[in-house]
Amino acid sequence: MLSAGRILQRCDALARHSELPGGLTRVYLSPENRAANDLVLGWMREAGLAARVDAIGNLVGRYEGSLAGLPCLMLGSHLDTVRDAGRYDGMLGVIAAIECVAALSARGQRLPFAIEVLGFGDEEGVRFGTTMLGSRAIAGAVEAAVLESRDANGITIRQALRAFGLDPDQVPGVARRSGEVLAYAELHIEQGPVLEAEGLPVGVVTAINGFSRLKVALQGEAGHAGTVPMNLRRDALAAAAQCVLAIERIARGDQELVGTVGRIEARPGAINVIPGEVHFTIDVRAPRDELREQAVGAAIAQIEAIAQQRRIGCRIEKLQELGVAKCAPWLMDQLDRAVAAEGVRVRRLPSGAGHDGMALKSIADIAMLFVRCKGGISHNPAESITEEDAAVGARTLLHFIEHFAARS
Ligand code: GLV
Ligand code: MN
Ligand code: MN
Repeated sequence: MLSAGRILQRCDALARHSELPGGLTRVYLSPENRAANDLVLGWMREAGLAARVDAIGNLVGRYEGSLAGLPCLMLGSHLDTVRDAGRYDGMLGVIAAIECVAALSARGQRLPFAIEVLGFGDEEGVRFGTTMLGSRAIAGAVEAAVLESRDANGITIRQALRAFGLDPDQVPGVARRSGEVLAYAELHIEQGPVLEAEGLPVGVVTAINGFSRLKVALQGEAGHAGTVPMNLRRDALAAAAQCVLAIERIARGDQELVGTVGRIEARPGAINVIPGEVHFTIDVRAPRDELREQAVGAAIAQIEAIAQQRRIGCRIEKLQELGVAKCAPWLMDQLDRAVAAEGVRVRRLPSGAGHDGMALKSIADIAMLFVRCKGGISHNPAESITEEDAAVGARTLLHFIEHFAARS
C-alpha cells in the first residue's frame, strides 16, 4: 500500500538534517549529507532494495526483477539542497520511488526488469559549483580534473570524497554500460505555477531547458570612500551593477529566456572603502540552445564593453553548459497513460529547472513526472505540496512502473 503520509513524513525527517538550524541547507559530502544517507539507506532496505553508496556518493538501491541481473528501470532524484531550501526539491522523487518499490515488494511482485532507485549526492552544485556530479558519474561524464574543483574552504572534491570514506579513484567505475539502463524516470515537484493554475495534481514533462553558468571577476581599484572624487574611481561594484542590469535586459528580450545573477561578492567589503574587486555568477536558461548561446554571447560582449568603459579588468569563465534534454516520446506516452489512469487530464509541460536527466540522457532515454507545488514556489523554505498530490504522484509513478514496457 502506498502511503502519501509516510512520503511527507520522510521529507520532514530529511529536512531536519541541515547545517542551518531552523532552515534547510544540506550540501554534498557534508555531515548532514551522511546523516540523510543513513536514513534513506534504511528506508531503501526496509522497502526490499539492496542499498549501497557508490564511489561518487550516490545512494543506489536495487530491486531485482523476475531474474537476477536484468537491465533496470532507473528512478530517483537528488538528496542535496540549495541554501535555505524547501524540503521536496529532489527528496520527494527519491522517497516516492522507494514507496513504489515498497508496494511491489510487499506483494512479492517482481517485474520483467530490475528497478534501481538513485539518490544523487550532488545535483544542485552548491558546495563545489559542479552541478549534477552524481548523475554525470553514472553517465561516465566526470573527468578526473573535475575532482580537483574546490569548495569555499579550498577542499577539493577528491579530498572531500576521501574524508567521506569514498575512494575517488573508483569514480570511473560508477559509470553504467549501455544496455544496463532501460530508461530513467524522475518524479519531481514542478517548481513553477502551471499545474496549480490549471487545477492539475501532476503533469508530464516534455523537455528540460538547457543552461549556461558563468563566473565573472571584475578588478577595479579599492580606495578611500571619502577622498577619491567620483570621476577618478574604478569602482568594481558599480560596474557589476551595470552588468547585472545588462543581463536582465538581455533576458527580458525574449519570452523564452531567463537570466539570473544569483551570487555577488564585493571586496574588501567595508562601508568606507570603494569596492576594488567583485565576483558574480550568471545563470542563463532557454528551451532552445541557439537562443541561450546567443544570449550568453551578448552578455559577455556587454560585460566586456562595460568593463572597458570603466577601465575595469574583467575575467569571464564558463563553468558549465548543458543543452536542452528532450524527454523520450515513448516514455511520455507511457506516463500519459499512467496519468490518465488516475482520471487526471494529461498536461504536458517543459521544465525550466535543471534535473539529473540532463546528464543521464547520454546513457538512457529520460522521462519526468511533475507534481504540483503551492504557488509554484521552490528553492525557498516555503516550498509546499499536499498529501493528496503526493498520493496522486506516487500512484501515477507506480502505475507507470508496473506497466513499463522497454523499447524493443
Ligand atoms: C536545479 O535545481 C536548477 O535548476 O538550478
Ligand atoms: Mn533545485
Ligand atoms: Mn531538483
